[in-house]
Amino acid sequence: RTAAATRRASGTALTLLHGSNLGTCAGIARDLGTDGEEHGFAPTVASLDQYTERLAGSKGPLVIVAASYNGRPTDDAADFVASLENLAPGSLTGLRYAVLGVGDRNWAATYQRIPTLIDERLTAAGAVPLLERGSADASGDFGGVVDQWTEDLWKALLEEYGEATAGEAVGPAPEAEGEGLYELEDTSESVRGGLAERHGVQPMEVLEAYELVDTDHELGRSKRFLRLRLPEGVTYRTADHLAVLPSNPEALVQRVANRFGLDLDRTVRLRARRRSRGALPVDRPLTLRRLLTDFVELQDAATQEQVAVLAEHTACPPEKQPLTAFATADPETFREQVTVAGLSVLDLLERYRACELPFERFLELLPVLRPRHYSISSSAAARPGEADLMVSLLAAPHRSGEGTFRGIASHFLQTVDAGDVIQARVLPCSESFRLPEDTSVPVILVSAGTGLAPFRGAVLDRHHAGSTGTLLCYFGCDHPDVDFLHREEFAAAEAAGAVSMRPTFMHAPENGARFVQERIARESEEVWSVLEAGGRVYICGDGRRMAPAVREAFMAIYRERTGASDEQAVAWLAALVGSGRYVEDVWAG
Ligand SMILES: Cc1cc2nc3c(=O)[nH]c(=O)nc-3n(C[C@H](O)[C@H](O)[C@H](O)COP(=O)(O)OP(=O)(O)OC[C@H]3O[C@@H](n4cnc5c(N)ncnc54)[C@H](O)[C@@H]3O)c2cc1C
Ligand SMILES: Cc1cc2nc3c(=O)[nH]c(=O)nc-3n(C[C@H](O)[C@H](O)[C@H](O)COP(=O)(O)O)c2cc1C
Repeated sequence: RTAAATRRASGTALTLLHGSNLGTCAGIARDLGTDGEEHGFAPTVASLDQYTERLAGSKGPLVIVAASYNGRPTDDAADFVASLENLAPGSLTGLRYAVLGVGDRNWAATYQRIPTLIDERLTAAGAVPLLERGSADASGDFGGVVDQWTEDLWKALLEEYGEATAGEAVGPAPEAEGEGLYELEDTSESVRGGLAERHGVQPMEVLEAYELVDTDHELGRSKRFLRLRLPEGVTYRTADHLAVLPSNPEALVQRVANRFGLDLDRTVRLRARRRSRGALPVDRPLTLRRLLTDFVELQDAATQEQVAVLAEHTACPPEKQPLTAFATADPETFREQVTVAGLSVLDLLERYRACELPFERFLELLPVLRPRHYSISSSAAARPGEADLMVSLLAAPHRSGEGTFRGIASHFLQTVDAGDVIQARVLPCSESFRLPEDTSVPVILVSAGTGLAPFRGAVLDRHHAGSTGTLLCYFGCDHPDVDFLHREEFAAAEAAGAVSMRPTFMHAPENGARFVQERIARESEEVWSVLEAGGRVYICGDGRRMAPAVREAFMAIYRERTGASDEQAVAWLAALVGSGRYVEDVWAG
C-alpha cells in the first residue's frame, strides 16, 4: 500500500492555486481540492492572482497548477507572475510547495514557460519543493502524467503532513489493484454521455455554412464559413474563441472495428475501476459506435508509454522487436519516427497485427475527445447572438507516407450544414488581444489564412461603429481569385474608411511581396510611423512560420530606423510584447 493509502492529515490547510484561461488547470486544482478533503486536508482553491503578494502569509503547503499562453501567464495569473519579480531572497523560507505545469509541446519555444518560471522564483525566494515540478503535455500522455504526478503529490504531502491511520485506508479497493482501468459490461439501456458537461459545451444551431475558397482552382484549399446561433443568454466579445467538440468520422471508427473485430452496434456500459483524470466521462450505456465516434481521440500520435504497452502485448518476435525498439528509443529518435510522423496507436496496431492488445486496454490508452478552438470571426456589436467561424480543412499527405491525413474537427466542420446542431462553448480570448477601444490609437493587424478570423470581427466592429481610425490589415493568402476571404465585405469596410487592406498573394506577388512580412518590410516607413505614434500590433494565425517571420520583420525595421544592434532589437520587441503593444494569438499549424 502507498503512503497515500495509509496516512491521513488532520485538518492541515492546503492552498491550491491555478493559472488557467480555458479551465484545464482550474479543473485539476478543483479535483485536487476534492481529493485533499478525502485525505484529511482543509483545501482552499483560488486563482494565482488572488494570492498576489500573499504567499508569505499562506498557511500550510501550497500547490500550483498553471498554464502558459504564447509564453505569457493566463489572465488569472498575470499580476501574480509579475509580482514574482519582487520576491526577495529568503522571503518564502519555510514554505513548502509543488508546481504542476500544464502545457503543449506544439508551442515548442515557450513550452511550460510560466510554470517553470514560478517554480524557479519560489525556490529562489527560499521555498522548498515537495516534489519535482510536473510537466503535463496536452499533446502527449496528458492524463497519465497528471495521474502519476497527483499520486506522487499525495504521497509527498501525506509523508510530510499526515499521520499513520489505524482505520480504513483511503485508496483503491485492494481487489482492483493490478487490473486495467476499464471493464466492459453488456447492457441494453438507452444511450447518453457526460462529455458535453465535462467540456462545458452546449448545442448551437448552424444557421449558414458555405465554402469561402474557390476549390475548383488548383490552388484552392478549403476554408469553410459557419454561422451559429448562440443559445439564450450566451454572449461573446469580438475576438473570443469558440471551442467546438467534434465527432470522429465513420471511416476512422470503422478502422477500429475492423482491427478489433467489433460489432459497433453492441451496447455496453463502461465502468472505470478507479478514478483517473484520463478516464472517459461515460457512466451510461452506449453503443461502441457512439463511444468511438463521440468520446475518444483516435488519431493522436502515440506516446512512448503507449508504444511500450503495445510491445508488452506482442509475442511475435518480428513485430515485438520494432515496437520494443520504438518504446526504448531515445526521446529524439522516438519524436522523429513516431510523433512527427503522426503515427497513432491505431496506425501501429494496423501495422503490427500480431499485437494482442485487448480492446479495453486500447480504450484506456485513448485520450478523451478534445474540443478544438476557433477564433470567432464576427463582430459582437454588429451581430450579437450569432457567431461566425472560418475553418481551414486540415488535409494533407500523411506524414508517415501512407494515405491522407484529415484533421478531426476541421473535417467534422466540413460535414455540417445549415440546420445541424453542434456542441460548442464560447471562451474569452486573452484580454491583451482585444483592440484598444480608443480608435485614435493606430493599429496594425497581421495574419495569414484563417488567422484573419478575429480581425474580420475587429474590422466589422469598426465599420459598424463608423470609425475611421488608422487600421492596417496585412493578410496573407495564395491568390486574389482563390482565397481572399470575405473580399467584398472587406472592400466595403475599406470604402467606408474603417480599414486599409494590405493583402499579399503567395502565388501572385505584387511588387515582389509574397508574404506579409515582405509587404511590412516594403511599407516600413508607414509601419514605423504607426509604432512611433504609440500604435499596437496584433498577429494571428500560423505560429510556426508566419509569427517568427513577422517578429523578424519588425525587428529589422527597428534596426534600420535606429541603428540598433540585433540584441537591442530583441529587447525592444520584448518590451513591446511586455507592454501589450505587440500581441500574438497564434497556433501551431
Ligand atoms: C486560439 C486558437 C484559435 C484558432 N482559430 C482557428 C480558426 O479561426 N480557424 C481555423 O481553421 N483553425 C483555427 N485554429 C486551429 C484549430 O483549433 C485546429 O487546430 C485545426 O482546425 C486542426 O484541428 P483538427 O481537429 O482538424 O486536427 P487534429 O485532428 O487535431 O489534428 C492535428 C494534429 O495532427 C497532426 N498533423 C497535422 N498534419 C499532419 C499530417 N499531414 N500527417 C500526420 N499528422 C499531421 C498535427 O501535428 C496535430 O498534432 C485555432 C487554434 C487555436 C489554438
Ligand atoms: C493560444 C494558445 C497559446 C498557448 N501557448 C502555450 C505556450 O506558450 N506554452 C505552453 O506550454 N503551452 C501553451 N499552450 C497550451 C496551453 O498551456 C494548454 O492548452 C493548457 O491545457 C491550457 O490550460 P487552461 O485550460 O487551464 O487554460 C497554448 C494554448 C493556446 C490555446
